[in-house]
Amino acid sequence: MPEGLLAGVPHPALRGRSLLTQQHHPPETVVAILDLADRLRDAGSRWPPALAGRVVALIFERPSTRTRVSFEAGIARLGGASLALAGRDLQLGRGETIEDTARVLSRMVDAVVLRTGPHENLLELDRHADVPVINGLTYEHHPCQALADAQTVRARFGELRGLRTAFVGDGNNCCASLMIVGALTGMEVVAACPPGHEPDPAIVAWADAAGRERGGGAAVVADPHEAVAGARAVYTDTWVSMGDEEEAEQRRRAFAGYQVNDALLDRAAPGAVALHCLPAHQGEEITDEVLHGPRSAVWDQAENRMHAQAALLLHTLG
Ligand code: CP
Ligand code: NVA
Repeated sequence: MPEGLLAGVPHPALRGRSLLTQQHHPPETVVAILDLADRLRDAGSRWPPALAGRVVALIFERPSTRTRVSFEAGIARLGGASLALAGRDLQLGRGETIEDTARVLSRMVDAVVLRTGPHENLLELDRHADVPVINGLTYEHHPCQALADAQTVRARFGELRGLRTAFVGDGNNCCASLMIVGALTGMEVVAACPPGHEPDPAIVAWADAAGRERGGGAAVVADPHEAVAGARAVYTDTWVSMGDEEEAEQRRRAFAGYQVNDALLDRAAPGAVALHCLPAHQGEEITDEVLHGPRSAVWDQAENRMHAQAALLLHTLG
């Protein structure tokens, strides 16, 4: 086992605690997760069986590739067991309450990861669960993604404090979670969104106030050129999130000027990288040239999901 790999695990402010959003987590917990995630990444596949005997339920009420595989692979590498459960295969899909599901799962597993639609579903699960609940994406938030995003940017540029990341497109769950993690780490996040598709103003205001204390901040503009000026990372995500399907055509029209392409990246800081949480829609929010080109940090970003979430679980359950 690489020496010192699990130093500081579990973090006292994370042990036994749910991750719904990072908004109420102390800033040092994000740094602790990112530091451990880096050590896990650097250790290659030589991970200790620190989750041996632990079981994590993963409930997916929406499709997933990265979240499911990264949690399952990370837990397996740490010697633990995961149960990936499709919502429709559970009695939850036939009307059993979230409360009763939470009570039963709490008797059998050590943590529950939930991907669902309304964030309120996650809060309801957490209210009734006796074990930590982790947000595997809600319509409003995607905090596990934001951990991997921050890890990726920090690895490229050495620090987050004062570094600008532009988020171009829909002010969605990934945008909100990036702003929150940015606020805790001092990374400045500037979103460029068309009118009517901005992130929740309450989250922007909170992230700006919290971020400014650490050399960062959060802001929303309409012009992508303005957002990417000075940005070291340029992030985009689908224009049509899960749950937005009925608005797909209208959204494609609204977001037409918000594509991350080489011309937009040329206006960012020299050496800027492109980020995308994936899945990508090439020719819509990002071009093939950028996604698969030399300025893409997207594949590291996807890999870091496994490292960041393994680190989160170790600090939570360790
Ligand atoms: N980025 C992300 O959460 O991907 P999946 O929907 O594949 O889990
Ligand atoms: N914003 C996207 C992220 C997918 C990982 C969605 O919610 O569908």
